[in-house]
Amino acid sequence: MTNFHILTLFPEMVLQGLHTSILGRAVERNCISIEAVNIRDYTLDKHGKVDDYTYGGGAGMLMQAQPVYDAWRAVEERIAARGASGSRVIYVTPQGRTFHQKMAQELAQEEDLIFLCGHYEGIDERVLEEIVTDEISIGDYVLTGGELPAMVMVDAIARLVPGVLHNTDSAVTESFGDGLLEYPQYSRPEIWHDKRVPPILLSGDHAKVDAWRLEQSILRTKERRPDLYEAYCSRKA
Ligand code: ADE
Repeated sequence: MTNFHILTLFPEMVLQGLHTSILGRAVERNCISIEAVNIRDYTLDKHGKVDDYTYGGGAGMLMQAQPVYDAWRAVEERIAARGASGSRVIYVTPQGRTFHQKMAQELAQEEDLIFLCGHYEGIDERVLEEIVTDEISIGDYVLTGGELPAMVMVDAIARLVPGVLHNTDSAVTESFGDGLLEYPQYSRPEIWHDKRVPPILLSGDHAKVDAWRLEQSILRTKERRPDLYEAYCSRKA
């Protein structure tokens, strides 16, 4: 069981996206929980303001330390009331380490994970220094806010939590589980647009099917991701 807590200015966006399909069912079955905490609810500003100009000048507004800190404290107190505490706080930012499958596997072991989503030009550095344990990016491009990256990470982590996927194999056998890309797959009909399903998949010989799939995975990885292929070869050597 992992509890995901997402600190954001746009809770509806996050909840709508994450309470759908596989993750929605996993929430109903209590394999995971997902809460979105509205940072604006914690501002002490009487107009509900959460951002201000940056010292030193420059374009755009910055999220202020106070509402972010108080929203985090409220979540930490709820977690502490359950007997846990010291949860990892992940700030999603293009300045962070790049997210990958191994990080997802490691984070899936945690009982609570707090995600902090920035907006506008970012967040006052002083509150980041006090509460953030990990800074993670989803890739070398810049988005308008941290909500989509947080959703990407929650999805990738949540599907590795025991019970979320019915078929425990699929989290292991698919792309990246063993450092290889996934093999091609086919469903009915046997012939479509004159293209035949590879006959070996109809043979019923599971050992041969497995060998064919591994070979295809290796070929694909070599062609499309030489970097992953090199790493695979050195592990096998
Ligand atoms: N916020 C804006 N862009 C981002 C990215 N690429 N990764 C994580 N957080 C972000």
